[in-house]
Amino acid sequence: MEADDHDEHDSTFGGSRASLASSSTSLRSAVTRYQYEHGRRYHAYQAGIYLFPNDEQELNRMDIEHHNQRLQMNGNLHLCPVQDPTDILDLGTGTGIWCIDMAEKYPGAQVIGTDLSPIQPDWVPPNCRFEVDNFELDWTYGDNRFDLIHHRHLIGSISNHASLYKAAYNALKPGGWIEVVEMEAKLYCDDGSVPETSALKRWGEYIHEIFARSGRPFIPVQEYKTQLESAGFANVQYVEMKRPTNDWPKNPQLKEIGRVSIHAIIPTFVHLTDFKQYCALNFLEGLEGFTVKPFIGVLGWSPPEVQVFLAQVRSESLKRSMHGYMKSCVCYAQKPLVPPQPSYSQAEATSGDASTASIPAPVSLAAGTDSAGPPFLDTPATSTKSQDV
Ligand SMILES: C[S@@+](CC[C@H](N)C(=O)[O-])C[C@H]1O[C@@H](n2cnc3c(N)ncnc32)[C@H](O)[C@@H]1O
Repeated sequence: MEADDHDEHDSTFGGSRASLASSSTSLRSAVTRYQYEHGRRYHAYQAGIYLFPNDEQELNRMDIEHHNQRLQMNGNLHLCPVQDPTDILDLGTGTGIWCIDMAEKYPGAQVIGTDLSPIQPDWVPPNCRFEVDNFELDWTYGDNRFDLIHHRHLIGSISNHASLYKAAYNALKPGGWIEVVEMEAKLYCDDGSVPETSALKRWGEYIHEIFARSGRPFIPVQEYKTQLESAGFANVQYVEMKRPTNDWPKNPQLKEIGRVSIHAIIPTFVHLTDFKQYCALNFLEGLEGFTVKPFIGVLGWSPPEVQVFLAQVRSESLKRSMHGYMKSCVCYAQKPLVPPQPSYSQAEATSGDASTASIPAPVSLAAGTDSAGPPFLDTPATSTKSQDV
């Protein structure tokens, strides 16, 4: 990525979650008996398995991140070429904003979002509903039901990818799609401008260490492709993207993504037009949510140690001279129309790959159409792509 040497920029982002109902709308007391630690609120159902908060500040962040994701995907909600879906499932839906958008886009589909926390709004399109559920427990949806199963940013939430993708495979209709949007917390840099000792770089390394120790590792993004292949999916497509730490890149789209990445950890009471004025004051507010419970609970740091470290991380994150980025990916794949052949001898008897031969390859369509085609790159879909702007 090429760095932009100019300092002054305007943001075009105007998102707000004021229109979404708050987490207090649920009457289900057992799942809303939230836990409070380090000044943040955490989920009640299956308490303790997810280390990030579920309070209003975090919900704001998730919705701003939804905007960021759409920026990265050229306005699309998904890249897989699912057609006329009737049943869609979103795992770990958070505020449910993706489900709501999908329900509006596909009025003929029933969209279900599940989460440990009932933090979704009550007023949603009639074809959208939410359930409190743990996607790591046995699935009760039945086999061959969904046209699309989606998950986004379940980093640090999945203890067994193979078993999750087996469950998804069974729950998908033959020909149905799975789409996975994930990222890493590690910091990458291509031009040596981020020192190895950087606090921001170490923050990402600590986060990976913590979640590996907790049994819910952040896997390298390219591993999602092999995970889906191993689960038996066909037509696996992989797009890798870069998330700049701030607005340092020259490319306008990456610059805006970098801005939103910063905004994603700024409370929404800060007007975005005041960003330059207030970002330094408020950056830590959001970053804390990812850090306090994992660093104190797993690494054994003291609260003051965390605060001192976060001050360094926050300060470095705003340095435009440090050209860091995190990696993210969109990986989508299809359940074969014809089940894979059970044995080698049977497979030998067929000519070609019976499991995939009848499936048309995804087609690349224009941005904003919610179908196959990589973000940023105006090239036909291939099995592996990366973005470098
Ligand atoms: C980082 S948020 C992402 C939310 C949403 N997918 C999005 O992209 O806006 C992760 C969400 O996954 C949920 N989650 C984590 N582990 C879960 C589990 N085992 N079952 C269901 N939901 C889970 C969390 O409660 C949280 O809302």
